[in-house]
Amino acid sequence: MSTQKSVLTATNLSAGYGGTPVIRDVSLTLTGGGAPIGVIGQSGVGKTTLIHALVGVLKPSGGRVTFNGRTVNKLALGAKKNFGVSVRRVQQNGFTGLDSRLTVRKALEAELAKARKAGRATGGTVEDALATVLLENRYESRTIGTLSGGEKQRLALASALATRPDVLILDEPTTALDHTLRLELGRRISEIVAEQKIGLLLVSHDLEMIARICSTVHVLSDGTFVETGTPEQLFNNPHHPVTREIAIAMPKASGMPEELRSGR
Ligand SMILES: Nc1ncnc2c1ncn2[C@@H]1O[C@H](COP(=O)(O)OP(=O)(O)OP(=O)(O)O)[C@@H](O)[C@H]1O
Ligand SMILES: [Mg+2]
Repeated sequence: MSTQKSVLTATNLSAGYGGTPVIRDVSLTLTGGGAPIGVIGQSGVGKTTLIHALVGVLKPSGGRVTFNGRTVNKLALGAKKNFGVSVRRVQQNGFTGLDSRLTVRKALEAELAKARKAGRATGGTVEDALATVLLENRYESRTIGTLSGGEKQRLALASALATRPDVLILDEPTTALDHTLRLELGRRISEIVAEQKIGLLLVSHDLEMIARICSTVHVLSDGTFVETGTPEQLFNNPHHPVTREIAIAMPKASGMPEELRSGR
């Protein structure tokens, strides 16, 4: 395997639906082993659309997305397969993208096999994959369709991690989880991306979650990045009105990391 760090880059990216732009002029870089990046923005602002464009399911109307220098929406079949295991995204609302009739074991085995076939180290078993996302072994025999929303969310994360991606893109990964589990899973995600040198993009409207995991945060508003900073800067000293609104809307008792509360 190459020791070269993988890089997913969006340069002046614009994209939308049916000729209507949703995101415009967005630039960001995700590097395997680089610091986790967050994108925060209110509902309907274009966060998922940005992800669609980053993973190549939505063609840019302007600018480009490249993976290791190659344009993502023009990859040849072989390169596309490699991209599919190297760059993983977890969709929002517990949508796993997996066949709901499969058992959890079968689904995770298929992901591990995909990784082996692509020559990627997995070093793990189905049990390891489940433990990573705080699911017990007894879930192995469950049919995916019978899982709760939060369990599906965690399975989707486990299946993405099973191919040992270079880049991981998470779209509201913990919305269906209770507060305790959210904190615990947030910690796990931080540890895993650091250990495995995964370039992480965490997209959310939850500043608390982003603050716990990311060191750089872009604020998406009206389709574009209006402010970029550390979570501390955005929380304690927001400049753009939308950032201010997001910071103020954070419920004071929500468990915002204590160290970020000082300025308020
Ligand atoms: N397939 C589609 N066709 C037309 N418009 C779409 C499509 N998908 C999304 N949109 C619109 O694009 C805009 C951005 O949607 P998007 O899903 O990217 O928002 P979001 O920031 O992810 O919101 P949320 O926080 O609710 O998930 C919305 O106005 C949405 O209605
Ligand atoms: Mg969304």
